[in-house]
Amino acid sequence: MLVLGIETSCDETGVALYDTERGLVADALYSQIEMHANYGGVVPELASRDHVRKLLPMIAQLLDEAGVDSSELQGIAYTHGPGLVGALLVGATLAHSLAEVWDIPVVGVHHMEGHLLAPMLEENAPRPPFVALLVSGGHTQLVAVKGLGQYELLGESLDDAAGEAFDKAAKMMELPYPGGPSVAKLAESGDRSRLKFPRPMTDRPGLDFSFSGLKTFTLNTVAEMSGENGLDERDKADICAAFEEAVAHTLMIKCRRALKQTGMKTLVLAGGVAANKRLRELMAEMVAKQKAELFYPRLKFCTDNGAMIAYVGALRLNGGERSDSIEVQPRMTLSDLSKIEAA
Ligand code: KG4
Ligand code: ZN
Repeated sequence: MLVLGIETSCDETGVALYDTERGLVADALYSQIEMHANYGGVVPELASRDHVRKLLPMIAQLLDEAGVDSSELQGIAYTHGPGLVGALLVGATLAHSLAEVWDIPVVGVHHMEGHLLAPMLEENAPRPPFVALLVSGGHTQLVAVKGLGQYELLGESLDDAAGEAFDKAAKMMELPYPGGPSVAKLAESGDRSRLKFPRPMTDRPGLDFSFSGLKTFTLNTVAEMSGENGLDERDKADICAAFEEAVAHTLMIKCRRALKQTGMKTLVLAGGVAANKRLRELMAEMVAKQKAELFYPRLKFCTDNGAMIAYVGALRLNGGERSDSIEVQPRMTLSDLSKIEAA
């Protein structure tokens, strides 16, 4: 089954073609980062308008470059939540319109399920059951994946998401948006051992996270170390390194605990923060000690993309799922999803 996937939940327009027989056929991405960088964060109304401008031409180009005629498509999948409501509506409306015109089925996909299953796009794919750490700009969740579509939430952030914490820390140091990659880049030249930042909630049992205390600690450190002209470059790099170290260690400690608690031997990292090299390094060391295995998507499929939506949509359409109406949900929980039926 050949499926067109559409992702427009935030500031990336992603499109892709996934075939249940052949795998990923083509994918393309347009990032609005430059446009939003001027405002220091995503401006929802600008995001929606830009999706309107980019989406249809990108689909036409994707089909053209892949040598696929629209008559060959057998289904369409789009992100129906969670995300920015206006941005989601652009993808949902176009997906339903095209499905009507082409007379093919259409299905809405949960954005976080896309992230969760993105590692399945790799040749060396994980097999459920596994523990997944979903770390993006809006979510920090530990999920037990018992099967496709069968998710149990083990823990989540009680306040800021890990990516959001990176973005806010970057803002405090006047680093460009999005903050994750900016902090990570500067951290490479920083001294990881000079400053020690707290590892929130790691001394208490449980699998929930909280990053607001770390945010305040970072803000105070920036204020204390700033001179008349702000922070000097070395101090900035050292703060970035200490901050990244604290987030990565916190996430690693909770993942180790989740593996022990569930008895599972496979860990999957997904979402934008899974692109972080230091996080991957610490996780690799930890799973080796636990005699477990680590999986993550290639870098471009860690952040938002159309391929993960085409993939999950193809599985769900293949299993007979359909969406009857244009409907988006800015908030949705993973555990409400239904099991994906084999075709
Ligand atoms: O999954 P994603 O593309 O979008 C959401 O669904 O939120 O994640 C974006 C988040 C941003 O907060 C960004 O700062 C963070 O992922 N991010 C990173 C890195 N690359 C992206 N955080 C830390 N290190 C990175 N290398
Ligand atoms: Zn995302």
